[in-house]
Amino acid sequence: MGINGQQLWGESMIIPPLPPNFGRGVGRPSKTRRRESDEVINKQKKRSRGKQPMPEIQFLLPPDSNWLDLHQEEVQDGWSQPSTAISSIQISQFPSHGAAAASPTWQHKNKGSMLVQLLFFSSVLLSCISNGSAGVTSTFVRNEWPSVDIPLDNEVFAVPKGYNAPQQVHITQGDYDGKAVIISWVTADEEGSNKVRYGLSEGKYEFTAEGTVQNYTFYNYKSGYIHQCLVDGLQYDTKYFYEIGDGDSSRRFWFRTPSPIDPDAPYKFGIIGDLGQTYNSLSTIEHCMQTGAETILFVGDLSYADRYKYHDVGVRWDSWGRFAERSAAYQPWIWSAGNHEIEYFPYMGEVIPFRNYLHRYPTPYLASESSSPLWYAVRRASAHIIVLSSYSPFVKYTPQWKWLEQELKRVDRKKTPWLIVLMHAPMYNSNDAHFMEGESMRAVFESWFCRYKVDVVFAGHVHAYERSYRISNIRYNVSSGASYPVPDKSAPVYITVGDGGNQEGLALRFRDPQPDYSAFREASYGHSTLEIKNKTHALYHWNRNDDGKRVPTDSFGNQSSKKKTEEKPSSLCPIQFTTESDIVNLHRNRRSADVAHHKSLLFRLVGISS
Ligand SMILES: [Fe+2]
Repeated sequence: MGINGQQLWGESMIIPPLPPNFGRGVGRPSKTRRRESDEVINKQKKRSRGKQPMPEIQFLLPPDSNWLDLHQEEVQDGWSQPSTAISSIQISQFPSHGAAAASPTWQHKNKGSMLVQLLFFSSVLLSCISNGSAGVTSTFVRNEWPSVDIPLDNEVFAVPKGYNAPQQVHITQGDYDGKAVIISWVTADEEGSNKVRYGLSEGKYEFTAEGTVQNYTFYNYKSGYIHQCLVDGLQYDTKYFYEIGDGDSSRRFWFRTPSPIDPDAPYKFGIIGDLGQTYNSLSTIEHCMQTGAETILFVGDLSYADRYKYHDVGVRWDSWGRFAERSAAYQPWIWSAGNHEIEYFPYMGEVIPFRNYLHRYPTPYLASESSSPLWYAVRRASAHIIVLSSYSPFVKYTPQWKWLEQELKRVDRKKTPWLIVLMHAPMYNSNDAHFMEGESMRAVFESWFCRYKVDVVFAGHVHAYERSYRISNIRYNVSSGASYPVPDKSAPVYITVGDGGNQEGLALRFRDPQPDYSAFREASYGHSTLEIKNKTHALYHWNRNDDGKRVPTDSFGNQSSKKKTEEKPSSLCPIQFTTESDIVNLHRNRRSADVAHHKSLLFRLVGISS
């Protein structure tokens, strides 16, 4: 199965069936589950023998078979039952390896290795099936670089040359519909110019906008001069060049505005969370830059400066600003706040939440009639993006609750068919880390997400990757007792991408067994992309970071001859290909002309062939 979205979109629109023991899986004794899995496998083997002339697929795999692809083929149907899984492996693997399978010589010479492979394959299969769902827990863990912040004297934090040169430059959307940007920067020595000069060609800045400047103190740290300038009235789908700063210290950047709001407008988002400022963080941000993502959806926990004390908190906010500039000066970042932005520090007299964050990272909250920069909405091309604050009041009657109630009513699926929600603490997560921390927001907002058919909810917080099936738990109330999530085609897919690479390290312990609602999970650093093709289709992709060495998944088997021999560069940045990534095709089935109601959405996990 390839990653060619066009090909996959042509597949039938089937709501995947429930796994046989869905809803009964969690908490079962493992022996019982293994016994049941054995029975399931034996039954399926018998069925398969009736349908397939070559029943023992395991023996027919040559030594270089791609275990990874097998693994992913197995889960491609989401809710597919084990029988489907086994069948799909047979179908997908036999044609390419038929010659080897038919060779008695090969079978003889590799009898020992085949036995080993059989045992390994069986264990992989059992581990996937025994949890009672088609979800996958990837065993891959990459954590070779230490989870420590890059030293301040590293070049990634370099202060731009020149007196009072602008630094920490970043942009975000400045209005509701994408015809404005807010440009922010810091000058260290004095206020300097507060103007943005911009135009349609490099070096010709025919327009000017003037912003504001402020600074603040945090304990004994005094910030630089923080400039924020709204540049509005822009043309859609246009590349703008801009210049800030004075004289020889001025610096130049560019950005591209999105298409007009249009249901079929294609657009590519990158999604990053919990980034921090480690070597892993650098890998994540540079990989994401190479995807061609036009805007970054950031799901909270920016700098991790709160891991420091006193004066160094501010210092690490500054270094993170210089670190993120490589992307954020060119691509708008849609900000959301995480727990590391709260910075409630009574020990140094800093007790106002979000002070550093709010001084530095403005959002266009007024454009969506929000009363706080911590929750707001923007529309961009064909997407309506709602940003929520996990760490602000959200229960009934609070400002955030009231705002969201109104904002969801403003969503016009005829204009923006893709409805995306960002938050920090995930509502669905099966990692031991931060387990259930999003439960209170789930209890308040989940029914709305289903009623308004949110397509996808991106969250961070957990330093690992996980994707859910389309499920909901809105039947539950304190007297009903029905407290387990069930498949719900009106529900969003919940994706946790808190794997940006901060100094706290990976969340390595997933709950066992894997809950039925969890489709794929892996404790590795990475980022995601969401590539909207038109009103009905989008391709979602999670990229695990590469650490500059040969891809360890080669040890599972070959990806392709090209991939197998490709040597990774020694630098931190390049990503040549993805391997064990999570690729999902989003289908929007429009059986009705009423585009306000998504009749069904189907996620598929597919293997990677090239
Ligand atoms: Fe967090």
